[in-house]
Amino acid sequence: MVANASLPSGNFRCFQGLISEGRKVDIMLRSIYCRLVSPTVSQVRGLHRSAAVCSDKLFVHRDTPDNNSNTPFEFSAENMKRIDAIMSNYPEGHKVAALIPLLDLAQRQNGWVPISAMHKVADILNVSRMRVYEVATFYTMFNREPVGKYHVQICTTTPCMLGGVGCGPILDAIKEKLGIGLGQTTKDGMFTLSEVECLGACVNAPMLTINDNYFEDLTVDDINKILDDIKAGKEVKAGPQNGQKKRFACEPKGGLTSLTTPPPPPGFGMRSDL
Ligand code: FES
Repeated sequence: MVANASLPSGNFRCFQGLISEGRKVDIMLRSIYCRLVSPTVSQVRGLHRSAAVCSDKLFVHRDTPDNNSNTPFEFSAENMKRIDAIMSNYPEGHKVAALIPLLDLAQRQNGWVPISAMHKVADILNVSRMRVYEVATFYTMFNREPVGKYHVQICTTTPCMLGGVGCGPILDAIKEKLGIGLGQTTKDGMFTLSEVECLGACVNAPMLTINDNYFEDLTVDDINKILDDIKAGKEVKAGPQNGQKKRFACEPKGGLTSLTTPPPPPGFGMRSDL
């Protein structure tokens, strides 16, 4: 080796010593890295391995030509009277409690809630716009984009998935009948299909809502008939449908199991001398 040839023998031994010391330090550092740093790095990376949350809703606002601060929106004169009546329910200093009823009113008037309607509500209640955004983006019943005349919201939470025929066949039937998927609106603007979480009618599963009405105990024939009737302009019967044991409300499907006899008359069990 050229380098060794130029070094005196004492210096060469010293140089070799330095190299072996360097190796020791290198091995020591590698061992510290393997024991301490490497597992920490892999743990941190592990925290980010869960799947991204999927949803057909966007929970932030993006300006579009149809939905921006300049989108025209004014409450009608009739609704302004309603707003006065609603706000009179709440004491001074607590008028902000009317926020949800006012957003609901805006939606009923317009069919959906553009951001300009949120600004109007903020002005009426004298609160910051952010307070209104917080509520309108939290509650999924506020439609922040246009929906069809009939908004079909199907519950796909576990009890509806398991009860009766299950929500799967009902959802498939709707998709086939309307020719749309979740989050979409038919071309004629009649129907919008949305997927929602539990609507509080689990005992009548599977169920869905169309605008303000609940349709429960559904079978595939039931939902096909409901949609056909709506398309034909006929009146549809809300509540439990006939496909599943013809329930009146949410009583047991196999018949009553308690309170099966007429209740005792007034005075039952009282002493006769009283
Ligand atoms: S799970 Fe569907 S209404 Fe509760």
